[in-house]
Amino acid sequence: MSHNVLLLPGDYIGQEIIPEAEKVLAVVATRFGLDIRTERGLIGGAAVDAEGFPLPASTLEKARAADAVLLGAVGGPAYDNLDRDLRPEKGLLRIRSELGLFGNLRPAIMYPQLVDASSLKPELVSGLDILIVRELTGGIYFGQPRGIREREDGEREGFNTYIYSESEIRRIARLAFEMARKRNGRVCSVDKANVLEATVLWREVVTELAQDYPDVELEHMYVDNAAMQLVRAPKQFDVMVTGNMFGDILSDAAAMLTGSIGMLPSASLNEKGEGIYEPCHGSAPDIAGQDKANPLAMILSVAMMLRYSLDCAAGADAIEAAVGTVLDQGLRTPDIASDGCQPVGTVAMGDAVVAALNAQVNDNE
Ligand code: IPM
Ligand code: MG
Repeated sequence: MSHNVLLLPGDYIGQEIIPEAEKVLAVVATRFGLDIRTERGLIGGAAVDAEGFPLPASTLEKARAADAVLLGAVGGPAYDNLDRDLRPEKGLLRIRSELGLFGNLRPAIMYPQLVDASSLKPELVSGLDILIVRELTGGIYFGQPRGIREREDGEREGFNTYIYSESEIRRIARLAFEMARKRNGRVCSVDKANVLEATVLWREVVTELAQDYPDVELEHMYVDNAAMQLVRAPKQFDVMVTGNMFGDILSDAAAMLTGSIGMLPSASLNEKGEGIYEPCHGSAPDIAGQDKANPLAMILSVAMMLRYSLDCAAGADAIEAAVGTVLDQGLRTPDIASDGCQPVGTVAMGDAVVAALNAQVNDNE
């Protein structure tokens, strides 16, 4: 069976990590007999430069036609002064929304080899394995009305709308409960129900839905406490489910617990299981073009794509094992550097993953 995969490198280090993902995907495709056809498209600042819009119609069309999308990263200082609607981030938000990718899975896993790279003490993070389930197409990111307006007294004010419908809450909570069933059976729903009505409803709907999942343990937590607990005792969490903005913030914090945001992949899924797979990190303009970016989050996003959209769990396992191997070998990009390890660049890290994948085959022969 053939699969069409759309590659959207985007901006800055996005351009450097996508080729590493491509190398890895090619090796896995050959080994597991997948017929993968890749195509490229423009998004973010790269699309603004070429076509004047952060999400050209042609990109959206290709994405709709594809079985899965691999995305690098968007945004950067060259585009910060553009009109709000032309900013690279708008392209990303729009493609998520147009494809209905409401379910964002962000696994924060502590690789034992990187325990020392974490900002927390080893005993707090070793063995850490959290899945953040972030709602991705609603909440304050998309709520209307929104804008910046001038009041009668001449003062400007900015405003946004934090809004969630029952069905939006139910479908993301369902995804979280389903994921918890395949893991350790615990869901922590994060809200601010002591202040925000939208999250009072959130808490009610999640609680109702929990009746369908008697085997899953549900806990509710206010977002400020959740942020504190993440840095105090992160291993208490299994699945965390939350809205768009809280999920954005908590997933960056969770990423750092694992040593580097350069290690965190993500999957953004719609009801049909189609998805965009992208690292949680941004476009890192400060290190772009210097062969310094860590490609592992992007490569691990390929693994998620194989698992969730291309029905090739064995390929996903192989990639994840290969990432473990290169870390065992002591290879480290600057973001995860530590004493006694071997510094490598983006390309060498990608090559090492490919070599580790090939070695798995030789070992099995
Ligand atoms: C992320 C990013 C995006 C978000 C930005 C680039 C719009 O921070 O994917 O976490 O806020 O969703
Ligand atoms: Mg973010």
